[in-house]
Amino acid sequence: MNPNPTDDTRRWIPVARIDDIPVAGSRCVQRPQGLDVAVFRTTDEQVFALLDRCPHKGGPLSQGIVFGHRVACPLHNWTIGLDSGCAQEPDEGCTTPFAVSLQDGVVHLDADELATQALAETRPLAGPARRSSCTP
Ligand code: FES
Repeated sequence: MNPNPTDDTRRWIPVARIDDIPVAGSRCVQRPQGLDVAVFRTTDEQVFALLDRCPHKGGPLSQGIVFGHRVACPLHNWTIGLDSGCAQEPDEGCTTPFAVSLQDGVVHLDADELATQALAETRPLAGPARRSSCTP
């Protein structure tokens, strides 16, 4: 989702330069509370942000393969829409999308969403042992 960057009702905070995110790849943004947020860059230079948790069994979407405006989860290959966070049929379920804005080559996320959205989501017990899927 690419909201209007001039939307001054939101409190945007910079999280990365677009050039620091690989094309058709992603970068993880850690939060003080809650799971990480995965920021994706597509081949047509759009950016999207989703909770880094697959709606199937919690796989780290930031480690998936980006194609078009979708990402294939690395665990069982579900396809998740980057704009909605929802699985492509016949699979069902959605992960939480976050508003993202690209301004002058810098990716911004909404500070209020980062602080409040999807805080109750956890990694599945059989998932990665680390709280964060971001690599240091
Ligand atoms: S955890 Fe993502 S497809 Fe199964």
